[in-house]
Formats: sequence, C-alpha cells, structure tokens
Amino acid sequence: MTTVTVHDKEFVPFLNADKIAQRTQELAAQISKDYTGKRPLVIAILNGSFIFAADIFRHLTIDAEISFIKLASYKGTTSSGNVITAIGLEESLHERHIILLEDIIDTGKTLHTFLPQLQHQMPASIEIASLLTKPAALQYPVTARYIGFEIPDKFVVGYGLDYDGLGRNLPEIYQLKNED
Ligand code: IMP
Ligand code: MG
Repeated sequence: MTTVTVHDKEFVPFLNADKIAQRTQELAAQISKDYTGKRPLVIAILNGSFIFAADIFRHLTIDAEISFIKLASYKGTTSSGNVITAIGLEESLHERHIILLEDIIDTGKTLHTFLPQLQHQMPASIEIASLLTKPAALQYPVTARYIGFEIPDKFVVGYGLDYDGLGRNLPEIYQLKNED
C-alpha cells in the first residue's frame, strides 16, 4: 500500500484488507453466537457502512434479516438543536432484536440522538456494531457492543468511509497524513 490523495489531502495506509477481513469475520462469528435463534434485524446506516454491512452479513451463520437506512439531520424546534430521522425504515421493530451497523462512532452524537427513536418502537433489544470507534473523540454516552477497531482521533477514509464524498472505494483504510 502506498500513500493516496483524496481531494486535496494525503492519506497513509492504516488498516490493510486482511486485517479488516479477519476482524469482520470475528465480529460476525460473535454475533452469530450471541443471536442464535433470535433472528436479528440488522440495520445498516448508509452510506458509510455499506461495505462493512456486506462483509458482516455474508459471514453470519444464523437466520438474520437486513435493512438499510439513511439518517437525515435537520434543524429541529427543540432546544437540543438538530433532529435526526431515518429514511427507509419500513420494518416494524416491535419485539425484534436490532443490531445497528455503523461505519464509525466519532463524537457519538448521531447515534445518541437517533437511538431513542428506535427505542420508541419497543424492540426486544438494540445493540450497536461499529467498524471503528474513536474513544478520544467521544462526547456522548454511546456504547457499541461490537467494535472492529478502536482508533486514534484522526480522520480516516476507505472501506466505505469518505472524505467529502470520495475515498469509499479504497479497499483498505487510510489515515490523514500529518502535515509537516
Ligand atoms: P458522530 O455523530 O460524531 O459519532 O459522527 C459519526 C459520523 O461522522 C460517521 O457515521 C461518519 O459518517 C462521520 N465520520 C466521523 N469520523 C470520520 C472519519 O474519520 N472519516 C470519515 N467519516 C467520519
Ligand atoms: Mg456515517
């Protein structure tokens, strides 16, 4: 792997394809074990998680369903500011076991804001699986049960993650190069 340029910025290799593949298979095996007989509904949050979702889902060895949503953020009228709504969620979550798939948890704001809306539908359970988390950037109480990699608070691209729309098709994960 070599350095790549996305838009105006340089990125250096960070997690190679073998490492990602091995870890997603481990997570899928763990999820298969934990959800045997529960027929979970996996909900992948677009766009960033689509490649992670495909890799996790194809390695599940249990009965499971998958659905895809987009989160749209708009200025709400509440004091807490932005409201986040899910576009594309058609399944009823009532009494279902939900596994939310996210590409990365950064500050945690997105999931912290969105989770209560899912809980409102009274699912049997909700857990989060995130390919990446940045513990040093976390500002909201969001806990993922399944984590691919804990990474430093530096911008990353590739394997579904983008920098301003580009970089999602990189098969490996790259980290923003230090400017010097
Ligand atoms: P949060 O609400 O701060 O947790 O941000 C979550 C969202 O920000 C993710 O779903 C990504 O879309 C985006 N994001 C955060 N950090 C990165 C990164 O390093 N690379 C690409 N996207 C990121
Ligand atoms: Mg995202």
